[in-house]
Amino acid sequence: MKQRPYNFSAGPAALPAEVLEQAAAEMLDWHGSGMGVMEMSHRGKEFISIAHQAEADLRRLLAVPPNFHILFMQGGGLAENAIVPMNLSAGAAADFVVTGSWSQKSFKEAKKYCDAQLAATNAVEGRHTTLPAPASWKLRREARYVHLCSNETIHGVEFHELPDLQALGSGLPLVVDCSSHILSRAIDWSRVGLAFAGAQKNIGPAGLTLVMVREDLLGHAMSVCPSAFDYKTVAEHGSMYNTPPTYSIYIAGLVFQWLLRQGGVAEMERRAIEKATLLYGAIDGSGFYSNQVDAGCRSRMNVPFFMPDERLYAPFLEGAAERGLLQLKGHKSVGGLRASLYNAMPLQGVQALVSYMTEFQARHG
Ligand SMILES: Cc1ncc(COP(=O)(O)O)c(C=O)c1O
Repeated sequence: MKQRPYNFSAGPAALPAEVLEQAAAEMLDWHGSGMGVMEMSHRGKEFISIAHQAEADLRRLLAVPPNFHILFMQGGGLAENAIVPMNLSAGAAADFVVTGSWSQKSFKEAKKYCDAQLAATNAVEGRHTTLPAPASWKLRREARYVHLCSNETIHGVEFHELPDLQALGSGLPLVVDCSSHILSRAIDWSRVGLAFAGAQKNIGPAGLTLVMVREDLLGHAMSVCPSAFDYKTVAEHGSMYNTPPTYSIYIAGLVFQWLLRQGGVAEMERRAIEKATLLYGAIDGSGFYSNQVDAGCRSRMNVPFFMPDERLYAPFLEGAAERGLLQLKGHKSVGGLRASLYNAMPLQGVQALVSYMTEFQARHG
């Protein structure tokens, strides 16, 4: 196959070409079954084997402990903003750390279901460029959980280490929205009660949401919680209480196998650091491009960056697309440019971007 363009979309995002090729080859007939995966009953032995393998591979990749359930759900990250409080808050208190648009949305949505309060924020005049030190968080003893977004996709702010709430004297479960950097590094499960992620960034097609939840947090859903979103019900039915997003699970499973072949999450982290270091280095060294996020919490996955003159963005994007560098437009709420460097983005893609940035600066800087 000829070289595909480099796709920097924040999500839905690029998938490994190998995975797409395998899916194409299996489209009409999966493993001699005479059926494509989209056409299979989710209760048939073929699809059950696909789902079991995907779950086992994910458990291996992220070293998910046996006392955590892996749930394949639907509704994306935004639905989890309601599903989590309906399952965990019992309508009581929950604390939120707001570090960008996504945790802000989670905080706002949770207020419909519980007494959600702000424990900490990094917002300064609408900007999010730092992380509030965990020791400064105002955590309530009566809260049922603490929510944070470990990688803010729009503002490009990442927790490089999850906070240790126990060390802060709090026994609360930590809920982590890791939608946009899941599988780019290991997760310290001793610090997490629940982690969720929409699949469409670093895993597979939209339509699948992964939830990894500690056993003791099941079984506390509020009565308003739809049965299909009650973690206990979903867990008891092996994510087959209602029809799961079968094709998305299949593609996610192919991505998990691809990741294992590449060397797993440790190798993904090594590559992520290499790619991000290259791009941030080019931005900082240019005297033309800029990124305002503090060095200690810059996202390795989503890199927003800016130029000194608004009028330059249209020609930058046009020239980028001509060179096969796609979807670099910044999120509408912050403007500028954004390069998302998920697992499927090879180092060569970032090298091509950096060399185009240098060329563009030479012409317009
Ligand atoms: C960190 C994060 N959380 C939540 C969401 C919302 O996901 P969805 O559109 O799947 O509901 C996104 C989407 O970009 C995200 O980046």
